[in-house]
Amino acid sequence: MGAGAGETVGMRVASSIGVALVGLRLLLLALPLAACAPRVDVPAPAGPQEPLPTDVHRAAEAEAAARVPDATRGGPPLRDGASPLPPFLGVSRADNAYVGAATCAACHPTAAATWATTAHAHALDTLRANASASNPACLPCHVTGLGHPSGWAGASTPALAAVGCEACHGPGGAHVAAPAAGYGDLPASGAACVACHTHDNSPDFRFERYWPLIAHGREGADGREGADGREGAPP
Ligand code: HEC
Ligand code: HEC
Ligand code: HEC
Ligand code: HEC
Repeated sequence: MGAGAGETVGMRVASSIGVALVGLRLLLLALPLAACAPRVDVPAPAGPQEPLPTDVHRAAEAEAAARVPDATRGGPPLRDGASPLPPFLGVSRADNAYVGAATCAACHPTAAATWATTAHAHALDTLRANASASNPACLPCHVTGLGHPSGWAGASTPALAAVGCEACHGPGGAHVAAPAAGYGDLPASGAACVACHTHDNSPDFRFERYWPLIAHGREGADGREGADGREGAPP
């Protein structure tokens, strides 16, 4: 994975600058997707490959928001510009802390190894390459836990740079203290993604096409792969 990841970062930085400068999004998107494809050993799913129609995408965003009826989840109030809360279930924000992906890696090494190869692991580098790493308009979706007392707070919280495990699964401090199934349950659907992959930021998003590029989670907490030997395989 090592050499390929290096090339990919280079391509991503190149394409990032292009995206920031001009509206060549559709053209440039092909670069990172092509670069990502060989990194996760899951065949591209059959089925529709077109982007979500705009109205369907916006409806999915509304559904994702509706999955968070209490935006505070019992925790401290969210200020404007906080990271979007994923539709995770059973995770309280009260008395719970973000710990960072390296902590998760100790018990979920296969998921962590996969994550490290994905664009999510480099999302803050993308902002740095665009001189936007301090821009409050950009940080919410490119770091982990912005707005929570234990979330991203700049250079003092390097473990929470980029889109870590907990950006999707929710703060994991309580789970790390008492590991058990049931933490961070997420739907295997676009509802887990569209809070960040909004129509405006990710117009080409389609779960069936994006998930295989980050697929993980069927390997068990000891890093074993699923019975069929494929991470992220459908149940
Ligand atoms: C000390 C070991 C340990 C650490 C650290 C740890 N986990 Fe876990 N995790 C477990 C165990 C054990 C389970 C239960 C697995 C099972 O029963 O299949 C689990 C379950 C999970 C599940 C749910 C799986 C299911 O089947 O319900 C998710 C999601 C998860 N962990 C994510 C994380 C994330 C994200 C982190 C970092 C914030 C993390 N874990 C840190 C041990 C750990
Ligand atoms: C907390 C915000 C957030 C959530 C939630 C999120 N993403 Fe992302 N995603 C990002 C950001 C930011 C990037 C851009 C990373 C970069 O290249 O800097 C990205 C990039 C990606 C890419 C790479 C796209 C490319 O052009 O190379 C894939 C694939 C992806 N996400 C899949 C998913 C899937 C599938 C989900 C839901 C299970 C999801 N993401 C949920 C923020 C998020
Ligand atoms: C609502 C969440 C959100 C916000 C806010 C956001 N982004 Fe992103 N950004 C994303 C997602 C999701 C992607 C991945 C899009 C895709 O590939 O489909 C992305 C991708 C990018 C990319 C392209 C990365 C690549 O390799 O293709 C750049 C560059 C970028 N964002 C910069 C910024 C900047 C600069 C800001 C602030 C002005 C910003 N983003 C604000 C969610 C967000
Ligand atoms: C971009 C969002 C995202 C990120 C980042 C992410 N996950 Fe996941 N994860 C998901 C989704 C969505 C599922 C559910 C997939 C399914 O049901 O097939 C999942 C499933 C899992 C599962 C299995 C849960 C179950 O019920 O079977 C584990 C364990 C897990 N993730 C751990 C991790 C760890 C550890 C990291 C970081 C190294 C991580 N995840 C990063 C979105 C994410």
